[in-house]
Amino acid sequence: MRVTTSQIHAMKREGKRFAALTAYDVVTAKLVDEAGIPIILVGDSLGMVVLGYDNTIPVTLDDIIHHTRAVTRGSQQAMIVADLPFMTYHQSPEQALESAARCMREGGAQAVKLEGGRVMAPTIQRLTESGIAVMAHIGLTPQSVNQLGGFKAQGKTSEQATRVMEDALAVQAAGAFSVVLECVPAALASLITDRLRIPTIGIGSGPGCDAEIQVISDILGWFTDFKPKHTKRFAQLADDAKRAIEQYNADVSEGAFPTLDHGFTIDEEVVRDVETAFPQER
Ligand code: KIV
Repeated sequence: MRVTTSQIHAMKREGKRFAALTAYDVVTAKLVDEAGIPIILVGDSLGMVVLGYDNTIPVTLDDIIHHTRAVTRGSQQAMIVADLPFMTYHQSPEQALESAARCMREGGAQAVKLEGGRVMAPTIQRLTESGIAVMAHIGLTPQSVNQLGGFKAQGKTSEQATRVMEDALAVQAAGAFSVVLECVPAALASLITDRLRIPTIGIGSGPGCDAEIQVISDILGWFTDFKPKHTKRFAQLADDAKRAIEQYNADVSEGAFPTLDHGFTIDEEVVRDVETAFPQER
């Protein structure tokens, strides 16, 4: 049985902080799941850290479903949340329903995430009334990067901070089971956390949220094109991998790998039979 929304709500009530992480493939999903992380997000960050785009906008629903399927296969306990990509839920609540249904039916997700506050409340309500668990995402919403004018903190002025608080209350009222607060100033994120019944899941929003989410490729030091301010590298996998690839290249070039130990043996007699059947041409 996977983690449920009731268990996530219980963690908020009991004041138990928890971690969430993204994953995009079977190997990382297995590692994250075995570490006991209760929520795995198949984030549209996929576009940047796996597919090599500059932002999340080119990611398609098929991309998310494809990777969600792999993450579902690699995990047993965690709740799998599929991130609805750009323009797969904006046109109408019906479009959102269809996209969410595909993530669940074809990808095996238990929940979906979508970006937007008050403006998305009717869509969140339509999804939750249809029995779909929704994680909301407010503050810095990367799918709106062009309109926001870059990846920057949201809610720094009184007017903006009020809007972020209103967004948080609106998505809760619409039925979201949790809300990601991305790049919201720490004091505002703490205040929102205090005012909501549903858990706040911070990223770049300080230590006062109920939970924290990070992009796995950032915390493992696997994606190194840039390091967002809000991340911490807990490993240097890209450096380790680079060293390993260079060593492999050198060993193969110099004849140090593979050795006979890395292959299979046959009787010498069999080799002689083949030699006889195919004599060396002079
Ligand atoms: O796409 C993603 O990985 C996300 C998280 C950073 C919250 O939306």
